[in-house]
Amino acid sequence: VGEAVQLARDEQGRAFVVCVADTIAPDLYKQLVRTRSGDWVKWQTCVQELRDLVAGLKSADMRQPTAKVLSFAASKGGVGNTTLALETAIYLATRRKRGSPRVAILDLNLQGGTLADALDIEPRFDIAEIAGRPERLDEQLIDVFTSRHSSGLDVFASPAHSTGMDDLDPQIVFAFIDSLSSRYDAILLDLPQHRLPWTDNLLQGADVIVVSGGSHVPALRRLTAKLAHLQTLAIPESRLAAVVNHCSVDLLGRFSHRAEIERALAGHRTFFVRRDCDAVGGASNVGGSLMQLMPNSRVCRDIKRLAEWVETASGGRTLQLDSAARSESAA
Ligand SMILES: Nc1ncnc2c1ncn2[C@@H]1O[C@H](COP(=O)(O)OP(=O)(O)OP(=O)(O)O)[C@@H](O)[C@H]1O
Ligand SMILES: [Mg+2]
Repeated sequence: VGEAVQLARDEQGRAFVVCVADTIAPDLYKQLVRTRSGDWVKWQTCVQELRDLVAGLKSADMRQPTAKVLSFAASKGGVGNTTLALETAIYLATRRKRGSPRVAILDLNLQGGTLADALDIEPRFDIAEIAGRPERLDEQLIDVFTSRHSSGLDVFASPAHSTGMDDLDPQIVFAFIDSLSSRYDAILLDLPQHRLPWTDNLLQGADVIVVSGGSHVPALRRLTAKLAHLQTLAIPESRLAAVVNHCSVDLLGRFSHRAEIERALAGHRTFFVRRDCDAVGGASNVGGSLMQLMPNSRVCRDIKRLAEWVETASGGRTLQLDSAARSESAA
């Protein structure tokens, strides 16, 4: 079954993997279904169930693009996870070469993240509203949860909660992401630094994972630990990148200790982003983004390199082509 899950992940969007077995471990079943490219049927009832499955797949609008899920996971607090996710989202949302990709960013710091503050918008994504009543989740409620940014990016930002969200049913989070997936070409997830019962599942279902970290030795340790954890989840390297943010640079603008850091990260794909408090702080002071306000600053160019990779690794051209195909069919 483990191999079936892997196959479903690798062939996502191209093939549908059906695992026929009398029993299946609940954990593996969850992983298989989360790929959205696989399901399990029992031997005893497999003839009928296979028929139903095929009929279901046929009736689903196969041309309807489902969103790529791009996860940004912090290895430590304050390393710029939200900033990097946000700037990447704005980069993708404003790529208008072929159609306009529909891009959303979802703040999963459910106790209250900083995404809304960074963009100076009102946070409207209050998952507590649907926590006990998932049946309330419909198109209208999704609209209520959406904050629209001038870049074209749709933002789902959590308001601060005084009570804990620790007992939140993870299925609510998955159901919400699923309900967004036919609306968007890409959904970026700003994940909390701490591990929650549902974050590993989200990481496994993601098309691309960016792990953010800092450049000092303790921060690098946290970053390597997080990357090691992702390896235990069997995340393919092709979907994974590490970002070392807040890097200092020398007089020529080269990243300090680059070689040592790369050695410490042992062959993982790594991007470096310089510390530039004037540019990053200046943009956030006016509720804007670097991509819009200072696209030619060096720190923005560092983030652009990451964003370009995210676009390519997530099927790059597909993002563009999906939106182009949509504009054509709408025409
Ligand atoms: N490259 C950078 N240069 C200078 N300042 C930066 C840089 N990246 C992020 N910052 C600043 O660092 C602070 C923390 O950034 P951010 O909120 O994105 O981090 P985070 O990892 O999401 O933090 P949290 O753990 O609170 O979620 C913010 O004030 C942000 O403006
Ligand atoms: Mg954050």
